[in-house]
Amino acid sequence: MRIVLVGLPGAGKGTQAAYLAKNLFLPHISTGDLFRENIRQGTELGRQAQSYMRAGQLVPDEITIGMARLRMRQPDAVDGFLLDGFPRNVFQAESLDQLLKDNGDSLDVVLDLVLPQEEAVTRIAGRRVCRDDSSHLFHVTYNAPHEPGLCDVCGGELYQRQDDTEETVRKRLEVFDRDTSPITAYYRLRNLVVGISALGSVAEVTERSMVALRERG
Ligand code: AP5
Ligand code: ZN
Repeated sequence: MRIVLVGLPGAGKGTQAAYLAKNLFLPHISTGDLFRENIRQGTELGRQAQSYMRAGQLVPDEITIGMARLRMRQPDAVDGFLLDGFPRNVFQAESLDQLLKDNGDSLDVVLDLVLPQEEAVTRIAGRRVCRDDSSHLFHVTYNAPHEPGLCDVCGGELYQRQDDTEETVRKRLEVFDRDTSPITAYYRLRNLVVGISALGSVAEVTERSMVALRERG
């Protein structure tokens, strides 16, 4: 299955992707995680992406699309994937379509995680991420680790993302409204969008997502 996850920053895309990828045996491809890993390793790509991310702006399309294309060509993604954070504007969506079409493939479903903006801001403000594995996500109140500052899964150190400051979050929401929300209309024209409420516990949202995906699959 070829799935795209969309939703506001903080809607729970990364959290859900970790569970859905496991349940569906699909690779989780997050452009945000790929950029953060490049920054951590000090690569040229990471250097180019860093200033945009810190400012809450989109990394330029040619950098992002090139990186996503390379990742999607890896053997584990040939038969399906779960995309998280890509595409993020209509140009990226068109490029993804073209990329898939070149291989005779197409998307199966776009899962839209719908959450009120104030709730997304609260989720982002309390988010903590594991340094050793970015799919280990916590929240200081909603999904608190047993030991403050330490990952329950692997014991790694938890940190707050650099782009999770109030000012940058405001910018990211603005960019979402302007550049990312039009992709839902783009995909709706092809009847690919399934919208689900992202309110409720992590397990409830996973269950809702699995039901919606099974209906489509
Ligand atoms: P990216 O990393 O993709 O960030 P984002 O889209 O802003 O999304 P987030 O990671 O903030 O939120 P999420 O929806 O994954 O929520 P999460 O599961 O963590 O992008 C970062 C930056 O990279 C961009 O600003 C841009 O600069 C660049 N970039 C990335 N892709 C790009 C592209 N394609 N083009 C150009 N630039 C790109 O959950 C949030 C919190 O809520 C966590 O603490 C979690 O524990 C908690 N939580 C989750 N679910 C629940 C629940 N059900 N109940 C209670 N708490 C919950
Ligand atoms: Zn961990």
